[in-house]
Amino acid sequence: MKKVNIGILGLGTVGGGTYDILKMNKELITRRTGVDYCVTRVLEINMKAVEAHGVDPAIVTSDVDAILTGDDVDIVIESLGGVEPSSSFMLKALEHGKSVVTPNKAAVAANYEKLTSAAKANGVQIRIEACVGGGIPALTAITEALAGNEFTDVMGILNGTTNYIMTKMGDEGLAYDAVLKDAQAKGFAEADPTADVEGIDVANKLSILMALAFDKYVAPGDIPTVGITGVTMDDIAAAKAKDCKIKLIAHASVDEAGKLSYEIKPMEIPYSHPLAGVSNEFNAIYVTGNAVGEVMFYGKGAGALPTGSAIVGDVISIMKAMA
Ligand code: HSE
Repeated sequence: MKKVNIGILGLGTVGGGTYDILKMNKELITRRTGVDYCVTRVLEINMKAVEAHGVDPAIVTSDVDAILTGDDVDIVIESLGGVEPSSSFMLKALEHGKSVVTPNKAAVAANYEKLTSAAKANGVQIRIEACVGGGIPALTAITEALAGNEFTDVMGILNGTTNYIMTKMGDEGLAYDAVLKDAQAKGFAEADPTADVEGIDVANKLSILMALAFDKYVAPGDIPTVGITGVTMDDIAAAKAKDCKIKLIAHASVDEAGKLSYEIKPMEIPYSHPLAGVSNEFNAIYVTGNAVGEVMFYGKGAGALPTGSAIVGDVISIMKAMA
């Protein structure tokens, strides 16, 4: 049986969830891939996390190069977060012939061309399903099952933290600060939650979605973006009076002349619209293709195991190609 070695950079919420799934479902993943895999190295300095996930301390290192360039790693899971040094780490791993899997939307959106070109040039893969929509397999669907379509419209709720806040404020009348703390405690929010509430995280995700659906890269900073910090209880009440909910919506569309437009902002969504029923940390991605029509993907957009599920799916795709 083919053997594949995996290195994990970071045992935070998502890295830890990924490690747990690789351990919990080892037998079925081995059966499905025909690959005997092993996590050979983990980059982590927090020994409490190492202990909490039952990682053998002998495979834990603080030397990142041991994972990026070592002979005993075939696939690198980069789950550190942030643009740098993560982007440089991923480039180095790709240049050393390792495939990379990452949920790091900030790094991928900032360096999309560099990372995808480096993978191509070195005959390896970079897989990014977990970057958008957490556990929802929308990117693989857009680039594989729906690849025969010309896409005209992509609309989504792409951030679990802000959707959780909008849901709890709107449905339960809870205060913004308390709900944000709750979202942080549940592992939904970024290390700096400003990225969530100001829409920066959604801009990273929409940038990636547009690159894949429309073959057009738009830097996250060039996407007009309004977050949820200006949404008040009065705004929510005014929306309710019109049978609407306020949701942070990312939208990109192509007009008949082929012009791509895009924006992110809180919008009033009528109760009758499918996106109004997307609550708490759930995300939804609504795409329109010229052959398939409208398709909506729905699921948990944040959290350790849902995001880990997407990462493990990408690891499995790479292992199948290596088997
Ligand atoms: N902070 C992100 C969110 C995590 O709340 O959606 C998943 O990308």
